Amino acid sequence: MRMMKLFIAGHNGMVGAALVRRFQGLEGVEIITRSRRELDLTDQRAVSAFYAEQKPDAAIIAAGKVGGIHANNTYPAEFLHQNLAIAMNCIDGAYRAGVKRLLYLGSSCIYPKHAPQPMPESCLLTSELEPTNEGYAIAKITGIKLAQYYRRQYGTLFYSAMPTNLYGPGDQYHPENSHVLPALIRRFHLAKLTNDPTVIAWGSGTPRREFMHVDDLADACELLMQQDVPPDWINVGSGSEVTIKELVELVAATVGYSGQIVWDASKPDGAPRKLMDSAKLAALGWRPRYDLKAGVRHAYECFLAEMDAHTLREGHSV
Ligand SMILES: NC(=O)c1ccc[n+]([C@@H]2O[C@H](COP(=O)([O-])OP(=O)(O)OC[C@H]3O[C@@H](n4cnc5c(N)ncnc54)[C@H](OP(=O)(O)O)[C@@H]3O)[C@@H](O)[C@H]2O)c1
Repeated sequence: MRMMKLFIAGHNGMVGAALVRRFQGLEGVEIITRSRRELDLTDQRAVSAFYAEQKPDAAIIAAGKVGGIHANNTYPAEFLHQNLAIAMNCIDGAYRAGVKRLLYLGSSCIYPKHAPQPMPESCLLTSELEPTNEGYAIAKITGIKLAQYYRRQYGTLFYSAMPTNLYGPGDQYHPENSHVLPALIRRFHLAKLTNDPTVIAWGSGTPRREFMHVDDLADACELLMQQDVPPDWINVGSGSEVTIKELVELVAATVGYSGQIVWDASKPDGAPRKLMDSAKLAALGWRPRYDLKAGVRHAYECFLAEMDAHTLREGHSV
């Protein structure tokens, strides 16, 4: 790893914490972090002052307002406004302070609703977005384009990574606002504790989705931080798909829930398939370390440990 003073934005989040674990102790890397209380990234003046004072060489922007379909659909104004402000302040501030390399984290949901499957990087902005997370996606697309334009106009090495659905230590387990995998872990765990004879799962169970352990994303980010000429944006996915039914059954088995799973077919399914084309990343020599079974087992162990330590993240300020 090159010598660098590295700002990891969002280090208290699931991704940011995984990045700190990954980069901590690497020779020549000095990590700088700020909690939201110390530095609100939506505050342009505060972010500029921070960059000017600290003068990092590099930054990874893993801060953002993040949530599942319900949260995205209910609070689109906050998802657009906060993520847009974070992207603008972090990217423009970095440029003004002379940051040489910046990796911005986007998301697979920036791609169009009817993107070809698996989704290549080139399908960005080719047709309309999924309406339920349009606000979030527009903010993230703007962040990716800002990084690309600063690179093109000013020669800065600013670029983006597009992770697929993530899970793992430090995930958010809010009862309504969390993503599908942590929501299932929580639901099956509670059903097991209360001896609930049934758990209701939404939809038909047939849609296929891709999941990746957050430590695999951190490994990919380390590789991307070493590239001399990285692409403007690159997909980061495990490449392995699972049906929602398979996922639900895997989580139930991992948690040890032995009741009945009832499918509520009146609930919407969403897109039939969402898989990233991560061939560009694979060509750089990257492979995930976790398969889904081992990853979900690890995530559940972390969930239990975080509950015991009273550090489980269950609240979400909107
Ligand atoms: N989770 C996924 O499945 C997934 C998938 C693809 C891409 N991503 C991307 O990865 C990034 C991180 O996601 P995550 O899952 O790690 O989310 P997360 O666990 O919710 O972490 C986000 C972090 O950002 C911080 N933050 C939010 N607003 C802030 C502000 N105004 N000022 C300072 N800090 C602020 C939060 O601080 P608090 O702790 O104070 O709330 C939190 O620590 C996001 O950009 C997301 O789009 C995530």
